[in-house]
Amino acid sequence: MESQKSPILITGAAGNVGSEVVRLLHEAGENVRAAVVSEAEASRLPAGVAWVRFDFTDPATFPDAFAGVARLFLMRPPHIAQVRRDMKPAIDYAAAAGVQQIVFLSLLGAEKNRFVPHAKVEALLAESGVPTTLLRCGFFMQNLSTTHRQDISENDDIFIPAGDGKTAFIDVRDIAAVAAKTLTEPGHNGKAYPLTGSEALDYGTVAKLLTTALNRSIGYSHPHFLRFAWRLWRRGFPLSYVTVVTAIYLTTRFGLAETVTPDTAVLLNRPPISMQQFIADYAPVWQ
Ligand SMILES: NC(=O)c1ccc[n+]([C@@H]2O[C@H](COP(=O)([O-])OP(=O)(O)OC[C@H]3O[C@@H](n4cnc5c(N)ncnc54)[C@H](OP(=O)(O)O)[C@@H]3O)[C@@H](O)[C@H]2O)c1
Repeated sequence: MESQKSPILITGAAGNVGSEVVRLLHEAGENVRAAVVSEAEASRLPAGVAWVRFDFTDPATFPDAFAGVARLFLMRPPHIAQVRRDMKPAIDYAAAAGVQQIVFLSLLGAEKNRFVPHAKVEALLAESGVPTTLLRCGFFMQNLSTTHRQDISENDDIFIPAGDGKTAFIDVRDIAAVAAKTLTEPGHNGKAYPLTGSEALDYGTVAKLLTTALNRSIGYSHPHFLRFAWRLWRRGFPLSYVTVVTAIYLTTRFGLAETVTPDTAVLLNRPPISMQQFIADYAPVWQ
């Protein structure tokens, strides 16, 4: 009973998924502790949410962050490639501090690809002995409103090297809803959920949906992967991030991102958010 009242620590609390997890748990009256890298991020949290400074690479931030915590929402910051060096200390600290459940934001197919950083985090979690719930997610719809926003709003173009490969996109709001559920009800320890939306779409179709919703022509130029990597790198994304994102889009090209899973709908007891709904909700981002 006591553990139900202890704070739930949310890492990446100002990020795409974490910010939604914070919002949902806070609105549900849960005791949320938002982990942020800097005070500036804390100002973007909903009013009344408790926050703590936390940096995976700074062990001095661990004692305050993990004090009294029984449940942890764990995400890997996209630029962290050396997970054993940069994330193991925090995972080990969490285990020693008595954390009883870790819900980890992982990647669809991580169990089949031991080279992606998410697979390495999953291995560290298994080593830690803390019961885990793995949310293995497909491509976020929100990649279109963040990483690819500039190309769409300034060039009317989806600049992604995925060919005609289809993607079973998922809205981060659905991932957050699953995370909130698995953190607050029993029965999810030891489970791994492959999470996607309800349909697989190619980027040509996404371009048509954007064209209809935004009332201007949006194209899909599917560039060579080297041109794509070069553009991301020139925009200031770290090399480790550029490499992982480019490699993931190459796997999409060969059809590895098209499998639709039923888990999101089963866990949420409703259909996942559709691409049309996502575009309607985020339309101002591309104006
Ligand atoms: N995009 C996809 O399609 C997709 C699909 C499946 C899985 N994933 C995985 O989802 C994760 C990204 O989730 P997201 O999009 O919600 O994240 P995000 O929006 O990119 O945010 C990353 C968060 O991590 C924080 N952070 C950065 N460095 C940190 C550090 N040293 N210690 C602690 N926190 C730090 C950031 O804080 P600052 O803002 O201060 O930097 C930010 O809040 C990645 O592991 C990615 O591989 C992504």
